[in-house]
Amino acid sequence: MRVIAIDGPSGVGKSSTSKEVARRLGWAYLDTGAMYRAMAWLALSRGVSDPGDVVELVRGADLEISTDPDGFRIEVDGIDVTEEIRTDAVSAGVQTVSGVPEAREELIEKQREAIAEKPAGIVVEGRDITTVVAPDAPVRILMTADEDVRIARRAGENHGTADAEAIAATRALVADRDAKDSQTTSFLTAADGVHTLDTTHVSFEEAVEAVLALAKEAA
Ligand code: DC
Repeated sequence: MRVIAIDGPSGVGKSSTSKEVARRLGWAYLDTGAMYRAMAWLALSRGVSDPGDVVELVRGADLEISTDPDGFRIEVDGIDVTEEIRTDAVSAGVQTVSGVPEAREELIEKQREAIAEKPAGIVVEGRDITTVVAPDAPVRILMTADEDVRIARRAGENHGTADAEAIAATRALVADRDAKDSQTTSFLTAADGVHTLDTTHVSFEEAVEAVLALAKEAA
């Protein structure tokens, strides 16, 4: 089983690290957060928020996600939502889907299918990959970083700057989302057998190399 499972809160560098590790190994890459975001986009655009209706929506949706680390694309019912899923409205509303256990089960099933389709190797990132989606993955990593560092990184990504205003706006969003996310998934402490990779004082390249080293050790 060639699977690297990576969890962690937002702004920790999971996506960029996971994608680069996949590229270097020539493996596939699965962004499970994008699947929750795409379903949240659909719920928002249809005005659906009742948990029962959300489950129906997720069950009926045709979700297509690419696993190419160099060509990310996600479609819902034939509509390309690659850009739309990154808006603040979707980030703020994602718990409409991720907070509903039956909706999670549907997406977890799809994630396991995507993993099974890539026996040559896949890097999977999210919040519950090391514990629920792929607890048997030979490499399981929890990425962490001090909250201020995470917020500064996210502000840089979203606003192109980490000035006081961008930090304040990002702090509110990140803190709120982490608090809500940790009610449904436990990603703030490492489960048994999961390596912790603290990126507070670690460069992007060092993080990538640390993951590659763990993969090599497990091979
Ligand atoms: O990683 P991200 O910020 O794109 O994730 C978007 C949201 O989806 C996040 O608020 C938590 C949720 N999520 C989840 O509940 N389980 C996952 N495996 C991945 C993401």
